[in-house]
Amino acid sequence: MRLSVNVDHVATIRQARMASEPDPVWAAVEAELAGACGITIHLRGDRRHIQDRDLRLMKETVAGVLNLEMSTSDEMLDIARDVHPQMCTLVPEGDGELTTQGGLDIISEEESVRKAVATLKESGITVSIFIDPDVVQVGRAKAVGADIVELHTGIYAETGDPVRIERELEKVRVAAIAAQEMGMRAHGGHGLTYLNIAPIAAIEEIDELSIGHSVVSRAVLVGMGEATAEMISLIETA
Ligand code: PXP
Repeated sequence: MRLSVNVDHVATIRQARMASEPDPVWAAVEAELAGACGITIHLRGDRRHIQDRDLRLMKETVAGVLNLEMSTSDEMLDIARDVHPQMCTLVPEGDGELTTQGGLDIISEEESVRKAVATLKESGITVSIFIDPDVVQVGRAKAVGADIVELHTGIYAETGDPVRIERELEKVRVAAIAAQEMGMRAHGGHGLTYLNIAPIAAIEEIDELSIGHSVVSRAVLVGMGEATAEMISLIETA
């Protein structure tokens, strides 16, 4: 199972000051050097974290697979066709949401999803659709031509109830098996942390995980001591 590191929240820190650091392009290099199979970024309509410049630079610098998460809007389809990342993951995008809320409902959005998949595939881009772990949605993903389904692990990750955790885990497992049987690849992501990763990582039918918030959070903390010591050293030297 491979890990694609989502570096959106490195950009969130940068945008908090509208500064030039920390640069998600640099973070992406570090993640790949540490073994990530690729990098995921979500270019949102409101540009709250990743910017167009980040996407264009990462298209040049990411050595593994660059996965662009995006809505099905015409603006995003034009950008994807122009920049041409190896892979795009279609996600729902709502105004004012803190993060992606649930999977894309391919049943109610079928026309726009079908059009987006066709447009991206015509350009030679591998297409994944972020869906809830539901066999009916897996079937619709196949019907609209997706290569991959990314199964939403957020409910599994966020519920504190042990019985519900088992039930959600089973839904993810069943959906991953269904995807494989239908000839698609299964990925997973959302809300995964150092504490809840193991049962999901043990599902053999999932071949890639996309993790962002927890990795960036850990990176800030494990680097805090070194960053402080470097600054003290500069102050003392002066
Ligand atoms: N997969 C998708 C489709 C997402 O939208 C996100 C959040 O940007 C992730 C994975 C990563 O989620 P997290 O930041 O909780 O690890």
